[in-house]
Amino acid sequence: MGAKPVVKWAGGKRQLVYKLIEYMPKEFKHYYEPFVGGGALLFELLPKKATINDVNDDLICIYRSLANEEYYHLMLNELDKHEFNHSEEYYYKVRMMDREPNYKSLPIWVRAARTIYLNKSCFNVLYRVNSKGYFNVPFGKKEKINTYDKDNMEIIHYYFKTNDVTILNGDFAKAVENAKAGDFVYFDPPYDPLENKNSFTSYSKDNFTRDDQERLANLFMELSKKGVYVMLSNHNTSLIKELYKDYNIHIVHAKRVINSDSNGRGDVEEVIVTNY
Ligand SMILES: C[S@@+](CC[C@H](N)C(=O)[O-])C[C@H]1O[C@@H](n2cnc3c(N)ncnc32)[C@H](O)[C@@H]1O
Repeated sequence: MGAKPVVKWAGGKRQLVYKLIEYMPKEFKHYYEPFVGGGALLFELLPKKATINDVNDDLICIYRSLANEEYYHLMLNELDKHEFNHSEEYYYKVRMMDREPNYKSLPIWVRAARTIYLNKSCFNVLYRVNSKGYFNVPFGKKEKINTYDKDNMEIIHYYFKTNDVTILNGDFAKAVENAKAGDFVYFDPPYDPLENKNSFTSYSKDNFTRDDQERLANLFMELSKKGVYVMLSNHNTSLIKELYKDYNIHIVHAKRVINSDSNGRGDVEEVIVTNY
């Protein structure tokens, strides 16, 4: 039985998940998701052998807490505390925590619960940091909040505990170093900005540059040579079409729900690229 993401993530793949399943290989050995984000596909598939990664350490604290018996219960206690104390003033107090010098040395379940709480109670349910790396989304004005679905959390906790899942927190290239023939890698990077000025700034927001898109395309090619099944999603832009012209490009339509710029909402063309 599949599970749902525990956070809503910009670029979350919840609505595309069945398309992704349609295009993924029917059989594979080890599953890799180097840009895991909210992990929509991971939690739908719950693969027995997996390596997941994200450069965002607040997010990785959540998965590491979910994977550890003690941390898991401590994280749920923290979430209950956040729900009980929830108010606008409390939200801003919790939001401030990452401005404190000791933030990175706080227990990971504390950081995990903070990230989930902010994700559920902030405006537009998204994760965004400023240039200093501080979370800066305003209060979402909800009076009461529910930070987790216990049954869903239990499924994910059980999944991490009973399967061979490696959780990494670094760059995407390092995460697939051990991928071998017959393994499957799903790349869902920060998207190449659409060719209109509204979304152009997203380069700097995610700090994922054109060079990174090219570095990723080279890695896609190297993995292909090794016999690894690779699938990638991105916007249907001229850069992406050029970078992946030697592979199968499937066009799909998606509704963007999370976008800090409301003009960026609506139907957009995305691609699912496969090397098989
Ligand atoms: C489009 S999102 C992934 C969404 C995810 N598939 C989901 O369903 O929620 C891209 C993710 O890549 C991460 N990221 C950005 N640069 C990265 C890098 N160089 N290496 C690894 N992860 C990176 C971001 O933190 C973000 O979580």
